Amino acid sequence: MNELNVVVDAAKAAFERAGTPADLENAKAQFLGKTGRVTELMKGLAALPVDEKKSRGAAINQAKQAIEDALNARRQALAEIELQAQLQAEALDVTLPGRQRGAGGLHPVSLTLERIEAIFGSMGFAVAQGPEIETDWFNFTALNTPEDHPARSMHDTFYVEGGSAAAPNLLRTHTSPMQIRYAVQHVKKHQAAIAAGSMPEIRVIAPGRTYRVDSDATHSPMFHQCEGLWVGENVSFKDLKYVFTDFCRTFFESDDLVLRFRPSFFPFTEPSAEIDIQFQSGPLAGRWLEVAGSGQVHPNVVRNMGLDPEKYIGFAFGMGPDRLTMLRYGVNDLRLFFDGDIRFLSQFQ
Ligand code: DAH
Repeated sequence: MNELNVVVDAAKAAFERAGTPADLENAKAQFLGKTGRVTELMKGLAALPVDEKKSRGAAINQAKQAIEDALNARRQALAEIELQAQLQAEALDVTLPGRQRGAGGLHPVSLTLERIEAIFGSMGFAVAQGPEIETDWFNFTALNTPEDHPARSMHDTFYVEGGSAAAPNLLRTHTSPMQIRYAVQHVKKHQAAIAAGSMPEIRVIAPGRTYRVDSDATHSPMFHQCEGLWVGENVSFKDLKYVFTDFCRTFFESDDLVLRFRPSFFPFTEPSAEIDIQFQSGPLAGRWLEVAGSGQVHPNVVRNMGLDPEKYIGFAFGMGPDRLTMLRYGVNDLRLFFDGDIRFLSQFQ
């Protein structure tokens, strides 16, 4: 075999043995590098007579070209091997089921609160939020429930640090303190209009959490209420009746639902009434279900709002969103709302 072919074969074999790009570069140096075998052959040309130089030079160049071709082929092969290895290492099994994140949803009572806000909102009621830690003044006294009033004992609550002995802080037992808080702000804001004898009506609902020392299937120490207040110069019981009937029918999506205003007592309203509803069809048909307390705002309360009870008259109501939720969905134990059991809660999504 021709000496040049031996060199070419040796180079091809060396390139083939190279398992990595670094090995291949080392092998290349042995043949094409400064002291490589092809380079040495080139140097040998100098000693040849002129007529031989030409043909020998052409032969060496051919051998060099063959070696370079083999080198490039091996480079490509190694790159291909590397790519395949990488693809295999990072292989994704697209047939595996994806990782799922359960979609969250709103709590059934939150759904009810949103519904209440939307319905009253459409009737021109603003929505107000107030503190859950209240003062004795807003929770009781301003609502015509002075100390020693027997109605206070029905509102046994949690007293918290921070107030004085005469005016302790407490967790609000109802949302009614928002009547005073909201009205006082309204009066402040519309001072000029009031002085001129034309106050824009107060029309607000105040949903939120409330607290009492109470715990069984229909009472929870923490529960929800939604207060409503409507005060103006010409607001009457008829308006309350109309608005509340409309609310109940929209809320329960039922037109054959009747309301009953049953005389009752609350210190902050006179006269006072419990509002009962009765479905004419469906699983609850025929039973009277209590859904709210209501009444004409007591003159003392109107005065505590900063308004003249001779000029301004109002109606208020307080309802229980927890109970409305139970009635709407047919839930019979209030505690289910506060246990945080996903199996129960996910049924409302
Ligand atoms: N605050 C009362 C309660 O928790 C409910 C209530 C009754 C609210 C009559 C009112 C009302 O606004 O007019 O028992």
